[in-house]
Amino acid sequence: IGQLLPTNSNEPPLVFHWFPFIGSTVTYGMDPPTFFKENRAKFGDVFTFVLLGKKTTVAMGPSGNDFVLNGKLKDVCAEEIYTVLTTPVFGKDVVYDCPNAKLMEQKKFMKIALTTEAFRSYVPIISHEVTDYFKRCADFKGKSGVVDIPKRMAEITIFTASHALQGSIIRNKFDVSLAALYHDLDMGFTPVNFMLHWAPLPWNRKRDHAQRTVAKTYMDTIVERRAMGDADKELDMMKHLMNSTYKNGTKVPDHEVAHMMIALLMAGQHSSSSTSSWIMLRLAQYPHIMEELYQEQVKVLGADLPPLKYEDLAKLPLNQAIIKETLRLHAPIHSIMRAVKSPMPVPGTKYVIPTSHTLLAAPGVSASDPAYFPNPDAWDPHRWEVDSPNAPTIIRNAVVEDEEKIDYGYGLVSKGSASPYLPFGAGRHRCIGEHFANLQLQTIVAETVRHYKFRNVDGGNTLIGTDYASLFSRPLEPANIHYEERD
Ligand code: HEM
Repeated sequence: IGQLLPTNSNEPPLVFHWFPFIGSTVTYGMDPPTFFKENRAKFGDVFTFVLLGKKTTVAMGPSGNDFVLNGKLKDVCAEEIYTVLTTPVFGKDVVYDCPNAKLMEQKKFMKIALTTEAFRSYVPIISHEVTDYFKRCADFKGKSGVVDIPKRMAEITIFTASHALQGSIIRNKFDVSLAALYHDLDMGFTPVNFMLHWAPLPWNRKRDHAQRTVAKTYMDTIVERRAMGDADKELDMMKHLMNSTYKNGTKVPDHEVAHMMIALLMAGQHSSSSTSSWIMLRLAQYPHIMEELYQEQVKVLGADLPPLKYEDLAKLPLNQAIIKETLRLHAPIHSIMRAVKSPMPVPGTKYVIPTSHTLLAAPGVSASDPAYFPNPDAWDPHRWEVDSPNAPTIIRNAVVEDEEKIDYGYGLVSKGSASPYLPFGAGRHRCIGEHFANLQLQTIVAETVRHYKFRNVDGGNTLIGTDYASLFSRPLEPANIHYEERD
């Protein structure tokens, strides 16, 4: 009954629930997008639900995205939410275990490292890793067969990202010891650890041991690489961070480089590996699109398909659209949260969000809203062509993005947070890995279509469901597809 009597008429409507602490945790946790859509239909773009005892206010649509993601530092705070989960995994003094101004500097170092020159060197590295993986992976041994694709994509993602971003010394350690340690680190990245991060549970013990061991491996490698001097020719992120200096003149300490390396690999791993898995599942669902991708390469690069170069990627629009469209329907991060630091009036409404609430943005909701994306549930990479009947309204009206730029301390970024399409977030916490992820995914897809034809195991066009049990949404496993080698 208490729920039906609003305590404060300026607070958004509260989703009804039976049990005080649990609130809507279970219905939200099982399927966040459906939970958002159903409650949006009842309450509109702004409403509150109880998540593990905490009132959580969702703000949806382009203006909701803007309200949360472009919130001012005095109003919203990300580290207060995330640090309990991330600090034991990444380590001290980086990302959310430091003041926001320091994170902005760290993001600037990371962003500066991702130059065109570096990208040019990454495409052959990634191409080689993918081709080599297909050759040695037991699951791809036959001319044709069935493969559980998320497992394979997880490995391809970690081999390609570690080689490109962390250099060949670290990459080679993945074959020996690092893969298992990262697996243990990953176990700390589970939603129950929002509450139990401190508990001496078996998975937290493994997490802590893995964190210390992985960080030491990086620190030893830093020493090794410094000793190599000019003989070390690689253009990776690790090398750049080893040579970076904070504005106050302090060189980035080795333990911070090590911890940033862990953070980057973890941030990229889940998002990119989930995205590449969805891409492969979609290609298995629609084999004719996989054929179109192959023909696009033949047409643009020539029938002999020379080794891929960085410049080639820009010439393959369908290959690019595959990623855009997959991120529209399968964005790996369904909920972006912030603590509220001062009461926040929601523009255009009577609501004021109190400091006792958490704010939540769900850009995936606007990305599948028919108001912006005609026929939103159809996975149609061609919709990103201007004359497609399914073209997003943002493209049709030629307002591709709000081009106003802003600098939060890590370089200019598009201010466009009032956009319906934000798979990489917006504002001060926007992704710095977007261009790397695109390059990595485009190269993986381009190489895969050169090697294989995919289809669903039963020859039909059903798609596997989504697993929301971890922090990142990904395909339910096993997610088997049928592959056949190209001649
Ligand atoms: C932040 C998505 C790949 C590094 C973010 C955010 C999103 C996102 C939505 C904002 C989180 C927030 O506001 O709380 C994605 C997607 C990816 C991807 C969809 C791939 C498809 C990567 C990669 C890297 C990376 C490959 C590293 C090379 C980061 C970092 C942040 C971030 C450092 C900043 C966190 C902050 O400032 O709080 N990403 N990401 N991401 N991402 Fe990515």
